[in-house]
Amino acid sequence: MNSRTAEDSRTILTDLVLPSETNPLNNLFGGELLARMDRAASISARRHSRRIVVTASVNHVAFNKAVPLGSVVTVEAKVSRAFKTSMEIYIDVWVEDRESGSRSKANEAIYTFVAVDETGTPVTVPELVPESDLEKSRFDAALRRKQLSLVLAGKMKPNDATELKALFE
Ligand SMILES: CC(C)(COP(=O)(O)OP(=O)(O)OC[C@H]1O[C@@H](n2cnc3c(N)ncnc32)[C@H](O)[C@@H]1OP(=O)(O)O)[C@@H](O)C(=O)NCCC(=O)NCCS
Repeated sequence: MNSRTAEDSRTILTDLVLPSETNPLNNLFGGELLARMDRAASISARRHSRRIVVTASVNHVAFNKAVPLGSVVTVEAKVSRAFKTSMEIYIDVWVEDRESGSRSKANEAIYTFVAVDETGTPVTVPELVPESDLEKSRFDAALRRKQLSLVLAGKMKPNDATELKALFE
């Protein structure tokens, strides 16, 4: 199975924040942003694996900055590491300044997707080869995040999370 790069899976969704998508403070509703990120991440996982993909877990979401009504929001998703059947997708969210046109980082999130066949059974995915320094650091940390997610889900014993445990030693 051929390896792929993070660029191969890069997915960009750009859209406005409309009134029906805001909270009472007129900022983007958190669940709406989660849905946009899930969509971008699922396309990214599909581009990497070229299979049907399902969301297995949302490992980390940081709503660092409110996104006001009328903003132009860009959600950028890339596979940061592929394991056997699962893929970690790293998502960066940018907001565009209307006057200068410059983009500033508003939020980020990390999702895990699993490639499955038509019966929903997990299937193997190609490996990911990181290229840039940022891709390499996200790749390295992904194994610890996978172990943490599995431990929290009760699917791995803390003692077996070797790389995660090494962080605290
Ligand atoms: C995701 C799903 C396919 C995993 O099935 P499973 O029986 O746990 O299969 P496995 O134990 O073989 O796990 C498959 C992979 O997912 C990973 N995984 C499972 N749960 C995970 C979690 N909570 N966090 C991180 N990775 C997880 C496993 O480590 C494994 O990865 P690997 O093969 O790359 O090592 C299954 O739980 C499912 O279909 N869930 C519903 C998905 C869905 O409908 N999502 C939309 C939500 S509405």
